Amino acid sequence: MYETLAVVGATGAVGRIVLEQLQQRNLPFKKLKLLASERSVGKEVRFNGEAIKVELLAPGAFKNVDLAIGSTPDEIAAEFVPYAVKEGAVVVDESGYWRMDPKVPLIIPEVNPDAANKHEGILASPNCSTTQMVVALAPLHQVARVTRVVVSTYQATSGAGLPGSEELNDSVRSALVGQTHPPKTFQHPIGFNLIPQIGSSKYEGYTSEEMKMVYETQKILGDDGIQVCPTCVRVPVTNGHSESILVETEKHISVEEAKELFEAFEGITVVDDLPNNQYPMPRDCEGKDDVFVGRIRKDISSPNGIAFWCVSDNLRKGAATNAVQIAELLMKRS
Ligand SMILES: NC(=O)c1ccc[n+]([C@@H]2O[C@H](COP(=O)([O-])OP(=O)(O)OC[C@H]3O[C@@H](n4cnc5c(N)ncnc54)[C@H](OP(=O)(O)O)[C@@H]3O)[C@@H](O)[C@H]2O)c1
Repeated sequence: MYETLAVVGATGAVGRIVLEQLQQRNLPFKKLKLLASERSVGKEVRFNGEAIKVELLAPGAFKNVDLAIGSTPDEIAAEFVPYAVKEGAVVVDESGYWRMDPKVPLIIPEVNPDAANKHEGILASPNCSTTQMVVALAPLHQVARVTRVVVSTYQATSGAGLPGSEELNDSVRSALVGQTHPPKTFQHPIGFNLIPQIGSSKYEGYTSEEMKMVYETQKILGDDGIQVCPTCVRVPVTNGHSESILVETEKHISVEEAKELFEAFEGITVVDDLPNNQYPMPRDCEGKDDVFVGRIRKDISSPNGIAFWCVSDNLRKGAATNAVQIAELLMKRS
């Protein structure tokens, strides 16, 4: 039984949506605890009409907590998750720190729910750009086995949390009056710009964000043979990541079949009518929980290739919604 729930990082970009999702989806817990840093201690957050005070994330905070959803930076997750588990909580963590640990299942509930059955107190939610891509790949993989993916991302500034969104606004305002706002969260000014670097240099010229897309995709789909070539780009959009995806499959599938597979898969909405200018765009997908797919077409450069465009709200399915769905799954199975 999961009676007491803690939201760790409740004051952040993702934590706020976790709270929204918990209210909307009506999860059957009895008590809620909100945890964050010293900066937020004592702040009041309204939840289902009740004011709850934010408490300090520190050892001892999980003594009566059954389930915790963590949305903190990696280094904070590295520290708090072990003592939360020791104090008796099961942790669903959204940071990147635990995802590739072989003992930690990495879950997208529509794709690999059964992996959640075997955990040692920690379950991880994938990186935002990985989640939406893997949701879109899953129906194709189930029928035709995905062998290779070439993906370019167009990632929103809220992917870097509240400071990322603020920096976009400051950068645009400064640019409009001919000034440059000194970048802090990003490597360069983001207003009226694109930055082809998310994360740090990691492997053979790929960034840490790009390598997350490689390793996490293979782990979730349970297939180390899937080849992924990603390019991750930060764009001046506040919310909603977009991805141009080229996928090659072992078995040929037609565009019509791919469209039917997308349409039948839980969590995917197809918006695909080019003659009438209909395709997914971040401004239309913001605030929604689905992964949106459009521009579905044959890859004219490859015999077994399908090309498509994929958009999802990174704070929702890319983060909070997926974590709350994992919590829901655990509660249903307890
Ligand atoms: N943004 C996305 O699209 C997205 C998608 C998938 C995964 N994630 C992951 O989710 C996590 C949170 O991201 P975010 O975008 O919500 O970041 P954020 O807006 O910067 O929020 C960070 C949260 O962590 C808390 N925190 C920071 N330092 C802390 C400390 N020393 N002790 C306790 N709490 C601390 C903050 O509390 P204070 O307010 O008190 O500082 C805040 O609640 C990150 O690991 C990120 O990689 C984000």
